[in-house]
Amino acid sequence: MTATIPGYDVQALRAAEWPWALDGTATYLNHAGIGPLPERTLTATAAFNRMRAEPFRLTVPFQFKVLSDARALAARLVGGHADEVALMVNTTYGINVAARCLELTAGDVVLTVDREFPANVYPWMALEKQGVVYTRVQCVGDWPDEDALVAAIATTPRLKVVTVSWVGFANGYRLDLARIGAACRARGGVTFVVDAIQGLGVVPMDVRAWQVDILACGAQKWLLSPWGTGFVWMRRELVQSLDPNPVGWMAPEGTDDFSKMLDYSISWRDNARRFEVISLPFQDFAGFNASVGLLLDTGIGNVHAHIEGLLDAGIDAASRLGLRLTSPVDKARRAGILAVVPRGDSGAASRRLTAAGVTHSVREGSVRLSPHVYNVAEDVERALQLLAT
Ligand SMILES: Cc1ncc(COP(=O)(O)O)c(C=O)c1O
Repeated sequence: MTATIPGYDVQALRAAEWPWALDGTATYLNHAGIGPLPERTLTATAAFNRMRAEPFRLTVPFQFKVLSDARALAARLVGGHADEVALMVNTTYGINVAARCLELTAGDVVLTVDREFPANVYPWMALEKQGVVYTRVQCVGDWPDEDALVAAIATTPRLKVVTVSWVGFANGYRLDLARIGAACRARGGVTFVVDAIQGLGVVPMDVRAWQVDILACGAQKWLLSPWGTGFVWMRRELVQSLDPNPVGWMAPEGTDDFSKMLDYSISWRDNARRFEVISLPFQDFAGFNASVGLLLDTGIGNVHAHIEGLLDAGIDAASRLGLRLTSPVDKARRAGILAVVPRGDSGAASRRLTAAGVTHSVREGSVRLSPHVYNVAEDVERALQLLAT
């Protein structure tokens, strides 16, 4: 079944880009952990590396076009402009750019929710040493308390930053960024920072409509891209008001001209490239371009509808089999993660899945299943059957 999904042909995509998924080698349900590289991405990185092996074939414009293409694709993903994108090597680096460049001072408050992935915790906690106050709004059960967060945004004195994951890493709870963004804007003087890695590539994103200020995203999961690729999107007005920290050698204007390297002048680029620390992994961004291009060509709306259908199938199967979920069932609150409490011991259940070739992760006591664009409902149902035995 699932042969015809509105918008694209899942079986054809699977055959072309993830052929191992067809022959029963593996049932891969761990895109919240590691995104498997599509065939076209392997081809793109290999082609770049082939030139790198013979660097006399490489030209500077060719190398740098890979990066400008990557910025343009990242901009399309988030609904922003390429000038607002700085390429980064992972999510954490982008969060650090936010934490450092905002130049918070003693007494300034950074507000977040509890149970965040550490990438969006330590760069802020590190500021406590200089007197910045880092505050977490408690969860209700395992899920973030969005009402309490919005209330705290309105009332917390000296609030300067709100920073959250769009989608929680363990149970996949999706925050309403539009609501939080509106609360930040209504308060005024607050920078809204988002770790988007568990949502981008699954759910359409609109940074402008949702009033996000800074978004950080690694591309190694749902964007199906090589490790070492990711980016920061930053609202244009903010880009131009912040100094880079750390400072790359191509952060200033004029540094594209390699004949004038010693004409030192600190006049930052007026775009987000001021935050990039060159050199970047060109070959991996060639892969990023192939992977993100594939997702954009498929249409993030189509990808979302497909993954939503897979999760629907999983939710139905869980209820039929009497399995409890720790991920939300409300469509507005989920992205690509189905977190299931297995029958019996989670370690034993995980071993059962592994023995049957079902790749998954265990987070906070639940088995985390995370299907993507080329999975079919049988993949998810198979995993749930194994968790119920
Ligand atoms: C919410 C979230 N942020 C960040 C990361 C990873 O950060 P990085 O891209 O810096 O490795 C993960 C990975 O599990 C995650 O779930």
